[in-house]
Amino acid sequence: MRTVGDLRALRACIRAWKQEGHRVGFVPTMGNLHAGHFSLVDLARRQADRVVASVFVNPTQFGPSEDFARYPRTLAEDSVGLVEHNCDLLFAPSVEVMYPFGPEQAMRIHVPGVGDTLEGAHRPGHFDGVATIVAKLFAMVEPDVAVFGQKDWQQLLVVRRLARELAFPLEIVAGPTVRDDDGLALSSRNRYLDVHQRARAPELHATLEWMRESFVDGHVLAAIEGAAVRRLERAGFNPDYAVVRRAEDLGVPAEGERSGLLALVAAKLGNTRLIDNLAFD
Ligand code: PAF
Repeated sequence: MRTVGDLRALRACIRAWKQEGHRVGFVPTMGNLHAGHFSLVDLARRQADRVVASVFVNPTQFGPSEDFARYPRTLAEDSVGLVEHNCDLLFAPSVEVMYPFGPEQAMRIHVPGVGDTLEGAHRPGHFDGVATIVAKLFAMVEPDVAVFGQKDWQQLLVVRRLARELAFPLEIVAGPTVRDDDGLALSSRNRYLDVHQRARAPELHATLEWMRESFVDGHVLAAIEGAAVRRLERAGFNPDYAVVRRAEDLGVPAEGERSGLLALVAAKLGNTRLIDNLAFD
């Protein structure tokens, strides 16, 4: 695996592959890679002849009081894992490469609607930062296929909308959420949890399962959502939301709508904010 940090080297490599007729797969990440990320690399491998992963902790998607400074940066370990998963190229750019005018002066892409609700409402500016960096990465890597995790369902919808509206000639593929044996979705932020919080954390997924069962049993959505919030509070979480939405656009389901729905939760355990989701179909 080659590691490059500058645009010229990245483009030369991609151009050479494309001239040879190779299909390029891309997995954008913020590093601190775990089995969830590696499953996306494996998926990209099955979709493409050459696989590029990027590691860049993107400052513009963090709010002022969020964890940008302490976000785990583990490039050496990430690199070893990517080699094990047959990644061909690691793009690990500096802030200067991604934001030549500085992050504060950077242009921003806003994805209205699907980017404004839930995470967008609780983390103002977050999806502007995500959409902006993903568009930049797409323009630089020029992948034929890009792979994103379903754990960040809303991000996946934002990226799909972005790719369509900016007419990037690529396919977006979604990889299933990878979970620990107790149901906790893998996330780089799980490492912030102390041993007591880690023991409680699977309740997030258990609550999603409970929401799905309650839905199958015919309970009213508003009642399910209210009870899910109380259930999380009882388990020691500080929930931001526990909702049922339409999977395709995160719209509020109409009365009697029974298919294509998804439960999404976001809650803090101590200072650590966790998100997860579960499709009902
Ligand atoms: O999901 C992530 O790790 C990030 O939001 C992404 C897509 C790499 C953009 O910084």
